[in-house]
Amino acid sequence: MKEELNKIAKDINIFIRKYLKSQKKTDLIIPMTYGILPGGKKIRSKILVDVGKIFKINYNNLIQIGAAVECIHAYSLIHDDLPCMDNDILRRGKLSTHKKFGQSSAILAGNSLLTVAFEILSQNNLRLDDKIKIKLVNLLSECSGHSGIAGGQYLDLSFEKKKISSKKIIEMQIKKTGKLFSFCCVAPVIISKKNNYLGKFEKIGSDIGLLFQIADDLIDYIGNTIKAGKKTNKDLKKGKATLISLLGYKNTIKYANKLKLDIFKRLDIFGKKAEDLRNTIDYILDRN
Ligand code: IPE
Ligand code: IPE
Ligand code: MG
Ligand code: MG
Ligand code: MG
Repeated sequence: MKEELNKIAKDINIFIRKYLKSQKKTDLIIPMTYGILPGGKKIRSKILVDVGKIFKINYNNLIQIGAAVECIHAYSLIHDDLPCMDNDILRRGKLSTHKKFGQSSAILAGNSLLTVAFEILSQNNLRLDDKIKIKLVNLLSECSGHSGIAGGQYLDLSFEKKKISSKKIIEMQIKKTGKLFSFCCVAPVIISKKNNYLGKFEKIGSDIGLLFQIADDLIDYIGNTIKAGKKTNKDLKKGKATLISLLGYKNTIKYANKLKLDIFKRLDIFGKKAEDLRNTIDYILDRN
């Protein structure tokens, strides 16, 4: 699983580097490149490739779509670290983009990575039907905006230092993190035109994203800064509403394991074809 993840990360980075090089040289390209390369784990792209395997989707197309997803993810992290949001100075083992280049450059580099994602998806060289491309662009927009990442980030910040129910915390985490994972699980279904699976994979994706966010919260709680590449032990101090803050550490682990088994159950019907996806889901929890 680790080998395959590294291969995907490498292929995505090659794609993004080439793409940014092909663009007009602007001043913003420098903080954009800094914020996205060499970048993080590429777990969202791995999920995209895993689900792509179930539906027999062309690998190079998945890498191009994954590159678009990683642009959106990198944008969301650049903005997440800003002083008006989580105010973090360390990201992916180096200074946050705003610490390195200033806040205005970080905001604009983030905005530009968000739009680059849609350039990549709508490019002529992505060998897919135009109708399918429009569906992908439409879904990715929805997952990134006010009903997805941006909306979830708004809730995350507005919940700070308040007592929030588990239902609301889960809703918030599904928006800020789950929706992009959901896109990764649904995109291969859209490409394969097996529309009867859309709802199932939308839900599996948002649950995998929720599981991922819970694991990230656990890493903040017990993890180590060097390994995580970002400051840990911050959520409690900021008064972040997480399942850990509400249920405690042990119950959150129980919740996460139950969620994982529940996702596995829904993958049973795919048998061996879903093996890679199962391994990635195991990795999401075990990386702690
Ligand atoms: C961190 O995401 C932010 C969350 C949504 C929890 P990742 O842990 O995927 O970050 P990178 O891409 O590996 O740096
Ligand atoms: C960020 O969640 C989720 C995003 C959509 C960016 P966190 O704020 O927990 O992510 P980290 O811990 O800073 O990576
Ligand atoms: Mg945050
Ligand atoms: Mg943060
Ligand atoms: Mg976190």
